[in-house]
Amino acid sequence: MPARTLAARPGRWLWTCRAGFEAHLFEELEWAGAEPRLLGEALVESDAVSGPPPAFARAGYQVAATLTATNPEAIADAAARAVLALPGRTPWAVQAFTPDTPRGNALAPVAEALESAVSARLPAERRIEDAQRAREAGALLVSLCVAPDEVTVVGAVHAREAVSLAAGGRRRMRRAGDAPSRAAMKLEEALDGLAFEPGRGDVCVDLGAAPGGWTQRLVSRGAKVVAVDPARLMPELTGNPRVKHVQESAFAYAPDEPADWLFCDMAWRPLEVAQLLAKWGRRGWAQHLVANIKLPMKDKNPILLRVRHTLGQEGGWEGLTVRQLYHDRDEVTVTAHKMK
Ligand SMILES: C[S@@+](CC[C@H](N)C(=O)[O-])C[C@H]1O[C@@H](n2cnc3c(N)ncnc32)[C@H](O)[C@@H]1O
Repeated sequence: MPARTLAARPGRWLWTCRAGFEAHLFEELEWAGAEPRLLGEALVESDAVSGPPPAFARAGYQVAATLTATNPEAIADAAARAVLALPGRTPWAVQAFTPDTPRGNALAPVAEALESAVSARLPAERRIEDAQRAREAGALLVSLCVAPDEVTVVGAVHAREAVSLAAGGRRRMRRAGDAPSRAAMKLEEALDGLAFEPGRGDVCVDLGAAPGGWTQRLVSRGAKVVAVDPARLMPELTGNPRVKHVQESAFAYAPDEPADWLFCDMAWRPLEVAQLLAKWGRRGWAQHLVANIKLPMKDKNPILLRVRHTLGQEGGWEGLTVRQLYHDRDEVTVTAHKMK
């Protein structure tokens, strides 16, 4: 790790990740031939990536300028100038974030103040208030990364191509009063990025469902859930007419009829889980897939490569996305669908 945060080079891409996962992100970018460089904790720079975005990147954008001034007014002036110099006349939504590390998080008030100061310096007619609206409008997400050691990186990404619409990919899902676990927030974050969501009347199969955080969220959306897990579900789910608990291994289970959605959060070996999900894909047992894949091993990328291959080539799952979400720890979340 560099002793001080390094300046990102204009034209390259800045990626941010979960602290401690820099080496995994670096390796992915290296394998993609994007010539990565570690800039500091939770920050990696690289050339543009032509294939799927790296799974371990929470967010990424193309660098316009790195500012090293210390005076907040001077930084805001220079950042606004850099934004105004971006090519084209596309409108923007402005977001500031810090690397998600203790030193970075201490700068959160600085980032918040910079976001307001830069927004106030930009012409109101080109400004869009939030990232979701920027995506709908085909606008840019202007990103300001406020990093330790007086490094501020200004740049932008098309909102429709952004890995995440949340600043720095830090998509905090509020803990719902009735949600039992972090697991429920993982599910909500995964669903947040999808074009379709499970809804009223949809049939969902939830593999590795216990104690029931995902099942509970799906039921509250009006779906019917087959919860497959040898372990017990929380009592409030067991009497629910829209929940059927199949108390057996997911490897032994076969659905009576195809489901709309397949969910999987099984605490089990990733390659075996991928093979199980591929079987569901091949047999057309579900239309949409959301799966959390556990990666407790040191060497994560070779496993991820095989998981991608198994799901896509052997399972026929399409539109595969693989991302370490904000709420994911030693794990990634996969989404995919089958063509009708
Ligand atoms: C992380 S927990 C799932 C949490 C759940 N998504 C929730 O929201 O409450 C992992 C679950 O995988 C289950 N599991 C492990 N091996 C399994 C298998 N072969 N078949 C079904 N479930 C399995 C475990 O019993 C455990 O309940």
